[in-house]
Amino acid sequence: ADALKIGIAGLGTVGASLAKILVERRDMLQTTCGRPIEIVAVTARTKGRDRGVDLSSAEWFDDAVSLAGKAKIDVFVELMGGAGDPAYAAVKAALSRGVHVVTANKALLAAHGVELAGIAEKHGCILNYEAAVAGGIPVIKALRESLTGNTISRVYGIMNGTCNYILTKMEKEGLSFEACLKEAQRLGYAEADPAFDIEGNDTAHKLSILTTLAFGTKIAADDIYLEGITNISIDDIRAAADLGYRIKLLGVAQKTDTGVEQRVHPTMVPLDSVIAQVDGVTNAVAIESDILGELLMVGPGAGGNATASAVLGDIADIAKSRPGAQTVPVLGRPAAALVPYKRAQ
Ligand code: NDP
Ligand code: HSE
Repeated sequence: ADALKIGIAGLGTVGASLAKILVERRDMLQTTCGRPIEIVAVTARTKGRDRGVDLSSAEWFDDAVSLAGKAKIDVFVELMGGAGDPAYAAVKAALSRGVHVVTANKALLAAHGVELAGIAEKHGCILNYEAAVAGGIPVIKALRESLTGNTISRVYGIMNGTCNYILTKMEKEGLSFEACLKEAQRLGYAEADPAFDIEGNDTAHKLSILTTLAFGTKIAADDIYLEGITNISIDDIRAAADLGYRIKLLGVAQKTDTGVEQRVHPTMVPLDSVIAQVDGVTNAVAIESDILGELLMVGPGAGGNATASAVLGDIADIAKSRPGAQTVPVLGRPAAALVPYKRAQ
């Protein structure tokens, strides 16, 4: 079968890890997908930087929008980040000419997800974004596919690896907030602007996507009660432990009689709860539904390989799909069937 030709925009923590895996596991992927996956085009901000992988056979583009709009590719993989351009324009350019898209960009989806889903549907494209929420945990697949037919009442969890890493390190090693954040950045967990992590915006972006998948409402990322972890001190963490609790930054979305409630804030969770045991960069997402009951998914939430694993799964799904087939609606149901978001009173 013909190779699946991909173009990657963004060769940082996630993009470089993905490229390495695609090159190193070419034969294995060809066997499992039934066709090879080839990187034929790449772009990043800095040309010529060593990415730790030989990409000399891929065509270099000076900007992401040209790559998305002109390269001879089947899939555009967006790993630059940011809600605005060039990510937004590039993803639209790809979808508008029938090129499938895989992205890890929750900020982009939180801002423009409904519009992008509509464009993908119009052009018969796949838009996959498993890595955008909770890193390597397959929570999008769970909500978008496995739980179809369930009525979901609540989705909540630890959705930011940087914050959970900081809170864990502060408690277990007594290190300062600033030292823990620096280490999270060094390990490739944090956003380009780490304020998005520690002030809770990244968790809010992710939560807004889960809310839409769970409740069928339009994405409402601006309608979330938001409080980050910047005010949490080691004294707070110790006081919570003395009372039998651990502090975790949780995102919570639940359905009430009057609408949907979305909130992100540090929460005291009992020490003997499963969620209290989720340490370091690990994330956990709980989904409460009527047929299945409670599902709890725990796993690596950030970092190059964990994230690349989810991106790779999304690409492999496209490689295995029949040409032109959009089998799963981008946001769990057709974009036109999403209902307006109504905040719970
Ligand atoms: P990095 O900052 O490590 O990498 C970003 C890449 O995009 C770099 O290669 C950079 O180029 C390139 N880039 C940035 N701006 C532009 C631009 N204007 N035009 C072209 N290229 C550009 O980010 P990450 O790899 O950590 O994150 C990428 C995406 O994945 C983001 O959306 C992030 O939110 C998401 N994500 C990240 C996770 C993680 O653990 N790191 C986990 C889950 C999702 P250059 O290298 O030349 O500077
Ligand atoms: N900065 C994010 C985090 C990356 O720490 O969780 C994964 O989305």
